[in-house]
Amino acid sequence: MSGVVFALPGNESLARAIAQRTRSEIGALALHRFPDGESYARIDTPLAGREAIFVCTLDRPDAKLLPLLFALDAARDAGATRCGLVVPYLPYMRQDARFKPGEAITSVTFARLLSKAADWIVTVDPHLHRYAALGAVYSIPDRVVHAAPLIAQWIRDNVRAPVLVGPDGESEQWVASVARDAKAPYVVLEKTRTGDRDVKVSVPHIERWRDRTPILIDDIIATARTMIAAIGHLTEAGAPSPICVGVHAIFADDAYGALQAAGAATVVTCNTVPHASNGIDLDPGIAASVAALLRTDSDEPPREAAHG
Ligand code: R5P
Repeated sequence: MSGVVFALPGNESLARAIAQRTRSEIGALALHRFPDGESYARIDTPLAGREAIFVCTLDRPDAKLLPLLFALDAARDAGATRCGLVVPYLPYMRQDARFKPGEAITSVTFARLLSKAADWIVTVDPHLHRYAALGAVYSIPDRVVHAAPLIAQWIRDNVRAPVLVGPDGESEQWVASVARDAKAPYVVLEKTRTGDRDVKVSVPHIERWRDRTPILIDDIIATARTMIAAIGHLTEAGAPSPICVGVHAIFADDAYGALQAAGAATVVTCNTVPHASNGIDLDPGIAASVAALLRTDSDEPPREAAHG
């Protein structure tokens, strides 16, 4: 089941974990940005008859996508039997419908691009709201790693009497499973978003949990406005300063500082996107999932070497 693992810049430590778990080699990939802004990619490890695994989290995706697609094509041209993708943060999942006439449904376009370029994908908690599963939009085999058990473990290890709080209905799926594993009560707030940074949140009856430490949990922290609005309402309701836990630490612009300034007691995230707040290590689980996928799928016929 061994292959060759390539790390796109910033993904080296997860690539090493995957290589170790799957007894694969770390491959040499040269990337370069020309002065005119175009990208260059070169595979320097022999790939004929071998499985290639590319590790690339895709926060701030637009600049990362083309080098990744070029590298995947180069691997296929070099004779790789299959090209797999490990994308701890999978972007564009939130535009899962046409909210206004004429809008691009970017989740569909993005999924089509990756599904054409790769043979399988492993990711962590993709934002599934209107899609029931990743397979509803990606046409290649997938494995999804769930952060909930390790978040629950972190809570058990660090917080004596927690109450989990989901900032909106979409977060209930994560909050409910973390609460189950952490054996803690949970509540879910109601959110209305009227713009990128304009979010209103209403608080259900949190008073009965006032002697517990609130832990806000969401899958993505991007502008942090969802969490900031929730903190404001928790504070008004007389709750202690909440701990904020996110799976994917996107933190656009000033979001991290703004979240701390808004009164978060602590901010903790999983390491799907490298960030100062990373406190929950998902690398072993991702590596195990890749190993399981390679074992399970090793009997499937390889795709044609050339693709259009
Ligand atoms: C959306 O429903 C997600 O689950 C998050 O609540 C949202 O993406 C957070 O975004 P922001 O940090 O920009 O408020």
